[in-house]
Amino acid sequence: MDKYIVAGNWKMNLNLREGEALACELASYLEDHPPEKSRVLVGVPYIHLAAVTKVLASSGAVVSAQDCSEHQKGAYTGEVSATQIKSTGAGAVIVGHSERRAYHHESEEVINQKIRRALDEDLTPILCVGELLSDRKNQRQESVVSEQLKGGLAGFDAAALQKMVIAYEPVWAIGTGETASPEQAQEMHAFIRKYLGEYYDAETAREVSILYGGSVKPDNAREIFGQPDVNGGLIGGASLKAASFLELIRIAEFL
Ligand code: 13P
Repeated sequence: MDKYIVAGNWKMNLNLREGEALACELASYLEDHPPEKSRVLVGVPYIHLAAVTKVLASSGAVVSAQDCSEHQKGAYTGEVSATQIKSTGAGAVIVGHSERRAYHHESEEVINQKIRRALDEDLTPILCVGELLSDRKNQRQESVVSEQLKGGLAGFDAAALQKMVIAYEPVWAIGTGETASPEQAQEMHAFIRKYLGEYYDAETAREVSILYGGSVKPDNAREIFGQPDVNGGLIGGASLKAASFLELIRIAEFL
């Protein structure tokens, strides 16, 4: 397991030229300063996958899609399959992001199927879980997250889990400027690890990378990444500028 994973999620930002330019800045830094403790990942729009993979080819960074179809192939207009993602040279795919759950009504069954498609193609699934503000206000965060884990991971054995990454992203902290406190992040990450330890086994749970996502910025990352059960971050806004994303990579590297 890498000590940290610093993962960007560009969401629906940057045109192709801008994406390539950002990837070039990342590549030139990473080629000169290859991280020793952390793995860098960038989650880009589908249209950027092939070009960004090429730009980052000798940087050690992994390129990720932000979603994939639950279907293998066929008449699904507008969808992109895990097989197609793999063919671009990408190595990972974000699955079950809260924005997909909210705006595309993705069910646990669909998310589970997407993970299966990703694993079939040897892509690392990054399974996102996280509660709404109303859940937290009603102290339902643990039951919500355990239901998401149960549904997403149904039918997968420990060997499959070892190929995945989990991202805890409290919905109330995404894009809001409000982060979970380091204590809140640690508490949920420890809960997720305990849940996985019971569902699978302690060793598998210890090894799985659990990322925190939700308004991670250079000024709060040190404390969040420093928590014992936090293995890095899934970063939206701060991954859109080389300066802030590279700063996050340096923070993980020198913690
Ligand atoms: P922000 O870092 O912009 O809050 O986004 C977090 C996120 O959703 C990453 O997937």
